[in-house]
Amino acid sequence: MPGRCRACTIGQIFVEGKGIVTELNVGIIGCGRIADLHAPGYARSHRARIFAVCDVNPELAARRGTEWGAERVYTDYHKLLADPDVQAVEIIVPHHLHKQVCVDACEAGKHVSVQKPMALTVSECDAMIRAARENNVKLKVFENFVFYPPYVKARELIEDGAIGQPLSVRIHLGGGARGGWKVPLSAWLWRLNEQTCGGGPNIFDDGYHKFSIAIDFFGPIEVVNGWVDRSFGIVDAPAMISWKHKNGMAGYLDSTFSPHMTMKSKYYTADERVEITGSEGVLYLSRCTARLLDEPVLILCRGGVTTAFEDLRDDWVDSFTDSTLHYIGVLLDGGEPRLTGERGRQVLQFAHAAIKSSNTGEPVRPDDITV
Ligand SMILES: NC(=O)c1ccc[n+]([C@@H]2O[C@H](COP(=O)([O-])OP(=O)(O)OC[C@H]3O[C@@H](n4cnc5c(N)ncnc54)[C@H](O)[C@@H]3O)[C@@H](O)[C@H]2O)c1
Repeated sequence: MPGRCRACTIGQIFVEGKGIVTELNVGIIGCGRIADLHAPGYARSHRARIFAVCDVNPELAARRGTEWGAERVYTDYHKLLADPDVQAVEIIVPHHLHKQVCVDACEAGKHVSVQKPMALTVSECDAMIRAARENNVKLKVFENFVFYPPYVKARELIEDGAIGQPLSVRIHLGGGARGGWKVPLSAWLWRLNEQTCGGGPNIFDDGYHKFSIAIDFFGPIEVVNGWVDRSFGIVDAPAMISWKHKNGMAGYLDSTFSPHMTMKSKYYTADERVEITGSEGVLYLSRCTARLLDEPVLILCRGGVTTAFEDLRDDWVDSFTDSTLHYIGVLLDGGEPRLTGERGRQVLQFAHAAIKSSNTGEPVRPDDITV
């Protein structure tokens, strides 16, 4: 039997006959649709495993336990948190539950990875950050887009001066309703309810990824202008959001919803395109979640020459796997998560600023969103 291992001795467990071995036991809380893409990172890692699973749906919890080879299956997350053999958790439940599950996990001494958006409000983020600090555990927000290999490559190119001085970033999110994988009705129901989602499906929920990559590429935001309309009374599109980074760069996100457009996708029908212009060149990124365009995922135009990067890992699941491997590395080897609680809070402020600006018709500074 493995011996008890508190988070302060992360990864160290005592196994009879083997002595002390390094292995991270992770508990998955919430085994729904996107949990499918959390499992591959653990399958790839030799240093961590899905040790326990929990879902309020007992059939789903049992099925996931078998599928992922988990040793323990729970339907009450408090029981998973009380399990001394679990050292870290992944919180993959609807948004309105993020804060409480995260605070409880920190108080139980577990390290936490919480899916995006970090929480519903900035005050909830503050409670989560405080709980992690007070209990000496690490808190990571699971926002996978910043790990998408073509975006990582684009960041490297920018840092190497490939486009000169960066001037602006333009992001397009096109949502379609046909194609892609099956999403259970239950996963739509909590998403289309602002009480449980925190905002609309395009700008607050999926938009979090786009606000996250803008900050990841070019740093914090000074001011935002937003215009968000509604399609069919429920989808927060079309929308146009523009902003200024604190470093002076300009940013722009436009979002549309095409109910009758079929999109090629193994996952959600979300077409993302990013264009980053600098003083000497432009980078075009043409996919992430869906594969609408059959063209190289990353193109650099500079000095009259077009260079296509065709050999990049560009399946959306790669961003999840790399994010999970990063989490495991941070817990076992030390260092800070790439997306800390503080960063998660900053991204949420950006999202709320965009929505508030749309509601008031006034520019909003994300730093002024504090509750
Ligand atoms: N990174 C991404 O690209 C991405 C994509 C989709 C979803 N997500 C995020 O992942 C999270 C889950 O989304 P989903 O699409 O998998 O939703 P989902 O509804 O398919 O799954 C949520 C699961 O949580 C379970 N659950 C609810 N309350 C629980 C509780 N108290 N204890 C244990 N389990 C509980 C539900 O039974 C369900 O199985 C959300 O934060 C969402 O925004 C991220």
